[in-house]
Amino acid sequence: MPYSNSPVFIPAQRVQNYHYAIRNIVSNARLQEEQGKKVTYLNIGDPILYGFQPPEELIEAKVLALRQGHNGYSPSCGKKDATEAIADDANTRGIPVSPENIIITSGASEAADLICTAMLNPGDEVLCPSPGYPLYSAIIAKLNAREVQYRLDPENTWHPDPEEIESRITPRTKILVVINPNNPTGELYPPELLRKLVAIARRHRLLVITDEVYHKLVYEEKHVPLASMAGDDVVITTIDSLSKNYMVPGWRIGWLAITNSHLIPDVHFAFIKLADARLCAPTAAQYAIRAAMKPRKDYIESVLHRLSAQRALTVEMLNAIPGISCNHPKGAFYVMGKADLAMLPFNSDEEFVLKLLHEKQILFVHGSGFGTDPLQGFFRVVFLPDVSTLEKVYRDLGDFMHQYR
Ligand SMILES: Cc1ncc(COP(=O)(O)O)c(C=O)c1O
Repeated sequence: MPYSNSPVFIPAQRVQNYHYAIRNIVSNARLQEEQGKKVTYLNIGDPILYGFQPPEELIEAKVLALRQGHNGYSPSCGKKDATEAIADDANTRGIPVSPENIIITSGASEAADLICTAMLNPGDEVLCPSPGYPLYSAIIAKLNAREVQYRLDPENTWHPDPEEIESRITPRTKILVVINPNNPTGELYPPELLRKLVAIARRHRLLVITDEVYHKLVYEEKHVPLASMAGDDVVITTIDSLSKNYMVPGWRIGWLAITNSHLIPDVHFAFIKLADARLCAPTAAQYAIRAAMKPRKDYIESVLHRLSAQRALTVEMLNAIPGISCNHPKGAFYVMGKADLAMLPFNSDEEFVLKLLHEKQILFVHGSGFGTDPLQGFFRVVFLPDVSTLEKVYRDLGDFMHQYR
């Protein structure tokens, strides 16, 4: 019997609902490249592809660790010096947490997976933002749990409505996911809103996952960690990583920090059991964590200086194209564009994005890949490339719109 007919080689059902649009769409771009065309990738948030560099002292610390022979496993929750440095930094920023409540993971991605795997039985519900970062939908689908979406409102700077969130809570709801600064919208939540989200978690005894992997990449305003509002009776797991704040996404170093872990000893123990079984996060890179927690202030300033110019150009040029508009993001390096599909011959955001790829070799991700309605015409732009590359992209987008309107 050929393999393709064998019941043994049918992928497990859970993978059918496992999507990650940011990378899935790349296969279309590769087809363009096979035809000898050069694609400008504005789909993935990898700063290294666009010339950003990590702070030199992080590289030195990791290389030194390798040379000094730190090539074995580390303790499963992370090296002591690294968890201490993370806890010190968190405390300075108002997040109450001790080193024993930190688990270092292979990126923030593994932290999200670990928390959900430890918490969720099939059918349990997780409140997730829509649009949202697709990792959460994928993990929840894998666990046969249920993602219950709450809406981020484009008319209200993509903020959620706390009343709507509360109305979606059922006896099966276990986790509330908050992403701040947000991917895909680039928006930042004000303290009043965060206070309301914490109050909901308190009233309904939910665990909060607050994903703050972009917390240093904030422009005019100040990022407020959700856990700084936890008091002593709400369990908040803050997810963070070196990937974006220090431009080392390939190092795969992230962590989760549990505030008020004393309220959930069994769950905390379950986190540790899962961490034990997967051994540890990359060891040598953990030697750079202390250096990361006290980088030169001018490093972050220079990154923000470059990103600010790219953001300004993006917002100005996109909003100047007839039929295109976008928000003015306050953090990260994403903006949500919107194509007015009513004036275009495309039936969905994905068709718009693919046509643009075929004709202009520009790759955005369609908003429905993050959960928006395909008819609304949203698309996410990563504004990491330099100003001259972005200028060309937006000029080409303008020509494309002119041609089809
Ligand atoms: C909101 C959000 N969370 C988590 C991640 C994954 O981060 P890491 O590289 O630390 O796994 C990303 C990556 O783009 C992200 O945008």
